[in-house]
Amino acid sequence: MNVAFDFSGQVAVVTGAARGVGRTIVERLVDAGATVLATDRDAEGLAATVAGMPADQVGSVVADIATPEGASAIVGAAIDRYGRLDLCVNNAAVAPHATLLDERVEVWDTVYGVNCRGTFLVTQAAARAMIAAGNGGRIVTFSSGVSKRGSAGAACYASSRAAVESFTRVAAVELAQYGILVNCVSPGLIDTQPKPLPPRMAEALGRRIPTMPMARAGEPDEVASVVLFLASDAASFLTGAVIDVDGGTGVGVRFEGTSVPDDDPRYDWVTGRATTGVAT
Ligand SMILES: NC(=O)c1ccc[n+]([C@@H]2O[C@H](COP(=O)([O-])OP(=O)(O)OC[C@H]3O[C@@H](n4cnc5c(N)ncnc54)[C@H](O)[C@@H]3O)[C@@H](O)[C@H]2O)c1
Repeated sequence: MNVAFDFSGQVAVVTGAARGVGRTIVERLVDAGATVLATDRDAEGLAATVAGMPADQVGSVVADIATPEGASAIVGAAIDRYGRLDLCVNNAAVAPHATLLDERVEVWDTVYGVNCRGTFLVTQAAARAMIAAGNGGRIVTFSSGVSKRGSAGAACYASSRAAVESFTRVAAVELAQYGILVNCVSPGLIDTQPKPLPPRMAEALGRRIPTMPMARAGEPDEVASVVLFLASDAASFLTGAVIDVDGGTGVGVRFEGTSVPDDDPRYDWVTGRATTGVAT
């Protein structure tokens, strides 16, 4: 990689660090010199994330971000152990899918409890700690490309991610006065799935991936890179933004070729094909 980040002396909290994108963000931040408090409700996965990492640079807390106690335990641990907090990455989320007609209210509430309330609680606790220290800070939230599409089965997850985009804009406006910048990363399809894929998922992805502009899923590392950018000095004038990290999926479909034939006779007068007929 031809971009080098240096977060020496800075302290970060990363939620949802037991696997997937969160685990990679922890690895990348530690590689870049940050001290990281990795957190998740999954103790086993979290232990696997931090195993083998330098003990003086990474710590872990098992906590549920959906509860006020969990959120304050996470931020409290960062401050107690490392004395400061510079970056808070709200990566944890849940994404069960069901049709609107099948959806159960308990599932709906749990998804919103994690994805919305959890993001709010951790952001609030982190912002309070950052304001108390007076050094500003960076907060990164997470959405998803599906928040902008009417994807079947995603009513709860997609709308919960859209809510985070809205939350991010408000947080950015309210916290700018303290030098705290808040931005949202919105990934498209990222390759974090267990292998081998369940047959139905493999079949759906086999159909979807060739239609994506870059015709591939993203890697967790490609999302982590954007998080590190948002945490860096290079993003000093960026707040309230939602950044799509989706290989162009949100803007169009795969194109292969070099020209787009246009033989629409109505535009002959524009393209120069017109010889007779309508006045120009
Ligand atoms: N993977 C993708 O294709 C994709 C696409 C779009 C958006 N995203 C977003 O990227 C982020 C990371 O996605 P991922 O695929 O790595 O997720 P993942 O499901 O692999 O990991 C999420 C982590 O969050 C943890 N978590 C869930 N609820 C929690 C809670 N209440 N308290 C603490 N931890 C909790 C889980 O235990 C898990 O370790 C999410 O915010 C997701 O919405 C992912």
